[in-house]
Amino acid sequence: MSVLVTGGAGYIGSHTVIELLEEGKEVVIVDNFSNSNPIVLDRIREITNEDFKFYKVDTTNSDELEVVFKENNIDSIIHFAAYKAVGESVAKPLEYYTNNIGNTLNILNLMRKYNVKNFVFSSSATVYGDPHSCPIFENFPLSATNPYGATKLMIEDMLRDICKDNDSLNIAILRYFNPIGAHISGLIGEEPNGIPNNLMPYITKVAVGKLKELSVFGGDYNTHDGTGVRDYIHVVDLARGHIKALEKLNTNCGLVTYNLGTGNGYSVLDLIKAFSEACGKEIPYKIVDRRPGDIAMCYASTSNANKELGWKAEFGIKEMCEDSWRWQSNNPDGYTTAYIDEVTSVAE
Ligand code: UD1
Repeated sequence: MSVLVTGGAGYIGSHTVIELLEEGKEVVIVDNFSNSNPIVLDRIREITNEDFKFYKVDTTNSDELEVVFKENNIDSIIHFAAYKAVGESVAKPLEYYTNNIGNTLNILNLMRKYNVKNFVFSSSATVYGDPHSCPIFENFPLSATNPYGATKLMIEDMLRDICKDNDSLNIAILRYFNPIGAHISGLIGEEPNGIPNNLMPYITKVAVGKLKELSVFGGDYNTHDGTGVRDYIHVVDLARGHIKALEKLNTNCGLVTYNLGTGNGYSVLDLIKAFSEACGKEIPYKIVDRRPGDIAMCYASTSNANKELGWKAEFGIKEMCEDSWRWQSNNPDGYTTAYIDEVTSVAE
């Protein structure tokens, strides 16, 4: 029996595949490399000394995806494949709905056809909108403020409806907080297309000299130092949360929903400081206007995942920064050289 991982060459997907292989699972990866690189697959093999099946398939293509279901004995699916940039989703909403909703519908229909019962969905803390307080519990009100967030929320709603109708399905909705860090080997890590939108990849590009200076979005939030507070979680801890979620699904639990975070909030300035200590360099920054749509504070209650999954984040902010830096400094040009030219020209 195999675990199908859509988006398995991506940042969180690749780290999860490593954990699955290390658990002795048979893994089938589907990825179209729209925001990832084929080299990742070799690096996964190098790290684990294990092999897996791979299909270069766009999950919005149901016919091609069906071949994967026909050729493998899949018993569980972890669904990462999605577009994920908030700003881009505002500019290209139809692409986001088509890709994120369309591919999920394909997978769910094929699951039914091939009698697959276990499904893990990559959701996001974005579904909490602007939370009324922190820590955030899973039963807080849900809302979306941009098309990316709307796709996550719509898929969650679809999954809740599907589970009501079919009590043989087991579905885990995992709401990620802010994943950073990289595998300890320094061989795989986060490599966004173009200029990074998220904080940690931007910081690492500044540290490695590819970008000049970090803009800190807002210094007047109601937080301990005026900058935004987030719950940064090591991507390896996050990946291990998926292994625990699969174990939970094997108990025939129906639909379950968990926050995956550390429960700790760090500000932008806290992260800059921790990163500077990890890499031994100052990170030049300036405080600029707030980014539209950002919230002041967001951190998880992790008590449900702790109790019901037997999972807890183990790595602290120091390891997250050290591992992000090891990945970036070992791979200053990322997985490809094509990417550098683009970034350098903007940095100058
Ligand atoms: C963002 C998305 C969220 C998505 C998540 C995926 C937005 C508004 N939200 O979360 O929906 O699920 O990524 O990881 O984009 N910051 C700077 N300078 C930068 C970049 C970020 O100061 O160049 C600050 C932000 O204002 C924020 C913090 O760093 O306070 C974290 O930002 P980011 O890494 O983009 O994550 P989120 O905005 O929390």
